[in-house]
Amino acid sequence: MFETEELALFIPGPVGLHSTIVQAATLPGFGHRDQYGKRVLSSIYRNLALVADLPDDYSIALLNGSGTNGMEAAICSLTSSADNILCVSVGVFGDLFEQLATSHCRQTKKLSFAFGRGFDLEAIEGELQSGRYAAITMTHNESSTGVATDIAGCCELARRYGVRSIVDGVSIFGGAESQIRFGRPSCYLTATQKCLGLPAGLAIAFVANEAVEHARTLRGRGYVTDLVRHIDATREDQTLTTPNGTLLNQMRVQLERIVDFEGVEERKQRHAELRSVTRQWVRGCEDVFELFVGETDASPTVTTIRLKSGVQNPRVIAEAMRAKGYLIDTGHKKLNLLLAAAGSNPVMRVPHMGDLTVAELERFLEALKTVCWATSEKNGNKY
Ligand SMILES: Cc1ncc(COP(=O)(O)O)c(C=O)c1O
Repeated sequence: MFETEELALFIPGPVGLHSTIVQAATLPGFGHRDQYGKRVLSSIYRNLALVADLPDDYSIALLNGSGTNGMEAAICSLTSSADNILCVSVGVFGDLFEQLATSHCRQTKKLSFAFGRGFDLEAIEGELQSGRYAAITMTHNESSTGVATDIAGCCELARRYGVRSIVDGVSIFGGAESQIRFGRPSCYLTATQKCLGLPAGLAIAFVANEAVEHARTLRGRGYVTDLVRHIDATREDQTLTTPNGTLLNQMRVQLERIVDFEGVEERKQRHAELRSVTRQWVRGCEDVFELFVGETDASPTVTTIRLKSGVQNPRVIAEAMRAKGYLIDTGHKKLNLLLAAAGSNPVMRVPHMGDLTVAELERFLEALKTVCWATSEKNGNKY
């Protein structure tokens, strides 16, 4: 007999669901081509635009899958195989964009910046000046390191050099300003399972109409990777292929909660407060860890902490936290391998996204502090 395990999810997605969203999974199923399905989708599209503060000349696409599906679709739809793409990376997810581009035979150049830091706009401009690039990819919130970047500045540069900009907003959308209105990226991508506080299953793309029209002229966009087809479906309150109706019911309810109940601005403020509570708490635990990211680059949705020497490794801490009812993050594996190779201690991440309250976060941090202190050498490594 399979035994279910119920843990509070403190990993950087998927996030724990609010009880209203758990219940929304039991709402009646519907036909997505039927008039009721169109009403559900129309409500979703309208509220997504409000959460994004979307300018009028942008369109929305909903794609089955997760954030990576949206990123791949953007590469396939907005670039062609003749294009050179500049992939700006501040961590593992910036690298992922480059992998997606090369796996579709695009010519790429990766421009990487130090872990724990944001973009160096001067260096990016230096590359763009070469005139070689048709598109640039970037990460709004690098979940591996806990860094939020200046995408508005980077997109503005791209526009100045006539380069299309594609932004990964997977781990920040719904928890902070999307910056679409200010940066006007060609395409901004996100997914359901992080700051929107929903299960995984849909990628969301916000695409400038100008970029949609350009995409229509490109060949080889694929079918389910074709944002143009998805957007044509959206314009009729449809999706291109059959969506997960349970998730759409949950999404319809959750977006109404965000827009009409919590408020988009209030949600952003709550995430900013969750960040400051977490960072304050880290400063109070200097025996065991330190902040990995400085104040100006700190993400509002995930805080990365570096363990001090003498503290048990993240796996031991995670086991002890599991016994307390929490599933925690042990740091991004690839990042910790790279940090170890550079002689640095490992990092762990404290995610604070979705519908998490300050009180829930504080309870979690208290438990984590107790465990980390008990695992430290000074206290005899009790775990
Ligand atoms: C910043 C970022 N980009 C992309 C992804 C990949 O998204 P998904 O796992 O939804 O495919 C993630 C997942 O954690 C992420 O944090």
